[in-house]
Amino acid sequence: MQDRHGHRISYLRVSITDRCNERCTYCMPVELQEWLPRAEILTYEENLHVIRIAAELGVTKIRITGGEPLTRRGVIDFIGQVAQVAGIRDLGISTNGTLLTRSVAEVGDLGRQPRSATAATVARALRAAGVRSLNISLDTLDRQLYAQITGRDFHSQVLAGIDAALAVGFDQLKLNCVLMRGRNEDDLVPLIEFAAERNLILRFIELMPVSTTEVLDDHNFMSILHAQRLIESHFGALIPEPSFRTNGPATYYQVPGRNQWIGFIGAMTNLHFCESCNKLRLTCDGKLRPCLGSYLEFDIMKPLRGGASDEELRQFFLDVVERKPEQHDFRNNYQPDRKMIAIGG
Ligand code: 5AD
Ligand code: SF4
Repeated sequence: MQDRHGHRISYLRVSITDRCNERCTYCMPVELQEWLPRAEILTYEENLHVIRIAAELGVTKIRITGGEPLTRRGVIDFIGQVAQVAGIRDLGISTNGTLLTRSVAEVGDLGRQPRSATAATVARALRAAGVRSLNISLDTLDRQLYAQITGRDFHSQVLAGIDAALAVGFDQLKLNCVLMRGRNEDDLVPLIEFAAERNLILRFIELMPVSTTEVLDDHNFMSILHAQRLIESHFGALIPEPSFRTNGPATYYQVPGRNQWIGFIGAMTNLHFCESCNKLRLTCDGKLRPCLGSYLEFDIMKPLRGGASDEELRQFFLDVVERKPEQHDFRNNYQPDRKMIAIGG
C-alpha cells in the first residue's frame, strides 16, 4: 500500500481504550476526564476485523496502544488473537509499565487463561501471547518528579515492570522519555545510564501538542537538538547512526565509546520527520487516522457495524491511505480537538 506521497504503509497502531490509570500532563487534559461509553469503543472482534483487512492489504506490524492498553479486560487474550492474524509478523505494545508485574488474574483475564498461567505476570503473559516488542514510558528516574508528571505515585511499579519485562526477554524493549523543558533536563544522563545498564534502547521524544493542558511554548518545549547538546556536554559528541532503524520515526545515535544507541523523535523540529512515515492509526472509537498530527479521520465503525463486506472495508482502508497527508500539521498552529489518549500515542 502506498499513498500519493510515496509513504509505504505497513504499520497500524491500534488504540484499544481511552482509559488510563495515570494522568500525564502532556496526554490527559485534566478538564476532560470522562471516558467514552463502552458502546462507542470498538469490540475486540471489530478490532480484529480491521486488523485482518489491514493485513490483507500489506500491513505487517501492529502496535497496541491506549490510553493504557493493559487496563482493558481481556487484553491478553485479544493480543494472542492479533498475533495469529495471517501476515502480522511484528506485534508490539506501548504501555506505561505500571501493570507489568501484576498477575494475569488481577488484570481481569482470569478464566480465559489456563490454570497454570494465572500466576504468571502480565509481562510473561504478553510474551507468551506473541508480543515481540514492548515500549515503556519513563520520563524520569526521580520518584517525585514522576508523580508530578503522571499524577500517580507509580514509579516503583514501573521500575519493577521494566525488570519483569527484562526477565521475560522481549525481542525489543524500548524506553520512551518525553522531553520537557524545566522538568526533566537533569534526567537525560541518568536515563541513558539506566538504559545502558539494562541494555535497553532509550528514545527521547519531543513534546507534541496533543493535550489541551500542555500547550507548547518556550516554557515547556525542549527540542531534540537541545537534549542532544545536554547529553553531549556529558558524554561527548554523539555518533549519528543512520542505518540503525527500528521501524519507527526515531533517528539513532551511538553514545561515544559505548555499545549503546539512543533515539530521538523530533516530531516538531525535524523537517524530514514525515518522509518515512509508514503508519496509520485506528482510534479506540473506530476512526482511521492517516496521521496523528492532522484533523483527518474516517469513521470505520459505521461500515463495520453496518455490515459492509470485506471488499468494501478494504476499499475504505485504501481511500484513507489515499488521503494521507504529506506531513503533519503540528507546526501550523495545529490545535488538537481530541485527546492523545483517544488517538493512541
Ligand atoms: N507528546 C509526546 N509524546 C507523548 N506521549 C503521550 N503524549 C505525548 C505528547 N503530548 C508518549 C508517551 C508514550 C507514548 C505512547 O506517547 O509518553 O511514551
Ligand atoms: Fe496514560 Fe500514557 Fe497518557 Fe500517561 S501518556 S496518561 S500513561 S496514556
